[in-house]
Amino acid sequence: VTVYANPAAGAVAVAQRIAALIRSKQADGEKTVLGLATGVTPIAVYAELIRLHKEEGLSFKNVVTFNLDEYYPMQPGSVQSYVLFMNQNLFDHIDIDRDNIHIPDGTLAEDEIAAFCLNYERQIEELGGLDLQVLGIGRTGHIGFNEPGSAPNSGTRLVTLDDLTRTDAARDFGGKENVPTKAITMGVGTIFKAREIILMAWSKKKAPIIKKAVEGEISGDVPATFLQLSDNVEFILDEPAASEL
Ligand code: GLP
Repeated sequence: VTVYANPAAGAVAVAQRIAALIRSKQADGEKTVLGLATGVTPIAVYAELIRLHKEEGLSFKNVVTFNLDEYYPMQPGSVQSYVLFMNQNLFDHIDIDRDNIHIPDGTLAEDEIAAFCLNYERQIEELGGLDLQVLGIGRTGHIGFNEPGSAPNSGTRLVTLDDLTRTDAARDFGGKENVPTKAITMGVGTIFKAREIILMAWSKKKAPIIKKAVEGEISGDVPATFLQLSDNVEFILDEPAASEL
């Protein structure tokens, strides 16, 4: 666990780690495979990566990305879609090749989802796995959309969203009744295979779930507790989020 005085300091530190990884892989002629997250938490990281691209020449030409999750169903043009979020907060401002961007597809027919999810896993594996996965955390303890009840070895799949998650998303959708009941998410097992995992949390609102995630009993009731089983996880927090540890 590393605690920063404020979210901006934590976000800059994470962006610099990502930039260093990209540069060292580039120097070796290798691709960097990043697992990315949505939500308010990583926005400042993406802003710093954009700044590093524009001001310090950081290139994303050799970067391949896999986003954690997407609501289901969801059209990519909808204001709540994670496709739009990623375009607005990162991809539209950097030199990434569009073919290297992967986000779970919220437009699939239900009977296409299983094959899509297997292919998502296969694409990650064929690239040699995720070098680094960035995570936020939901108040249910979800990582990606792995809600309570998720298995530690779960893969990419269609899941049902927790009631609390839908309550927290209500504002984005203009009412809870408009929040999709399902999502497609990478699994806990998918996340676990990343060589490095960084979970970020800012603000007092996250303090109780951070306490459970870092110090609580390991259990599917709080999927983020599974991260305690990995040696490759770092929690990057601001002081309020760490205040109950
Ligand atoms: C959503 C995303 C998660 C994210 C969580 C927290 O549920 N699917 O990946 O970690 O929100 O969001 P925020 O960072 O806005 O608190």
